[in-house]
Amino acid sequence: MGILKDCIDNKKTDKVPIWLMRQAGRYLPEFKEIRSKNTNFIKLCLNPQLSKEITLQPIKRFSLDAAIIFSDILIIPFAMGQKVEFEKNFGPKLGELNIDEIFSVSDNEILNKLDPIYKLIKITSEDKILNGKDLIGFVGATWTLLVYMLNRQSPKKLDKEIYNYKNQDELIKKIINAQKLHIKNQVENGASIIQIFDSWAGLLGKEKFEKYIYKPTAEIVNYTKSLGAKVICFPRSIKYYKEYCNEIIPDAINIDYEVEPMYIASNIDIPIQGGMDPKCLLLEKDDMLKNAKKYLEIFKDHKYIFNLGHGVMPETKPDNVKILVDFVKNFK
Ligand code: CP3
Repeated sequence: MGILKDCIDNKKTDKVPIWLMRQAGRYLPEFKEIRSKNTNFIKLCLNPQLSKEITLQPIKRFSLDAAIIFSDILIIPFAMGQKVEFEKNFGPKLGELNIDEIFSVSDNEILNKLDPIYKLIKITSEDKILNGKDLIGFVGATWTLLVYMLNRQSPKKLDKEIYNYKNQDELIKKIINAQKLHIKNQVENGASIIQIFDSWAGLLGKEKFEKYIYKPTAEIVNYTKSLGAKVICFPRSIKYYKEYCNEIIPDAINIDYEVEPMYIASNIDIPIQGGMDPKCLLLEKDDMLKNAKKYLEIFKDHKYIFNLGHGVMPETKPDNVKILVDFVKNFK
């Protein structure tokens, strides 16, 4: 295990651990090359050898402290029987939701479909390049998966129909069941940390948090902890990080780039991850590093994991990522 897990465990580390959301993917030429030959994204996620190679691409280039498995949050709707496709310059497109089919799918059918991901985790965690580093698994949060399953593409704004969907309570239960299966098998095969991506948490009004965010996420977090793994939550764009942490009690919290980091430093005690705007990686070197330094200084008396406030953008130059990672690694 590496310094990322130590930091989340509240142990002292000599350096600030660093990894980046979406570190494996769209901005790396070596990813684009593999991707151009593999036009079916889901199939690529279910190819353990190629997914392993993509997972390790950023580890080979940069001094990162952790790898995140190459996969996608939409693999869960796929495993539950909904069609999932990724269209160039559009993003994910999900098929019609056939609720009877979703309700009748068995745990074994789900696990059979996801089995290549567990193989990917097993062979990646055993690779010596990860000696002393952590391997992060992940799931989409229940709310974000519900949004995708009902909206069938990334939402631009909240479609109120989601609240009115008649089978929503059973669907939420079914999603939670699939999330637990997926987390358990990721942990059993070598993921020591699970990150929960609630990318669309910011769409919800506060009065809906209890039902759609707090209740299901607390259940998933407690379940992950019971397996002996660490859990990091990323409720993107919510304005209530303090309340969220009190309700959910994750092991660490990833903050987005809109929230004021000084407020977080003075109001939240658990390990903090992330924050810097991914657009900073598109700036001139000095401006990029000025922004990185701001986060490092604000959180210098905190348990802090350097990361971004959302994923690395496709137009990011890999050289800038290297400059950033080396800067954080040498920061005292
Ligand atoms: O972080 C990593 O490097 C690991 C891999 C990873 C991917 N998706 C690979 C991917 C992770 C952790 C995700 C999570 C994910 N997927 C989220 C949560 C994080 C966030 O960005 O808010 C969400 C909302 C999705 C759903 C999704 N998948 C969208 C909206 C898209 C299209 C837009 C985009 O990001 O490119 C994807 C496709 C996707 N997932 C790609 C990659 C590398 C690009 C696929 C391609 O090459 O066409």
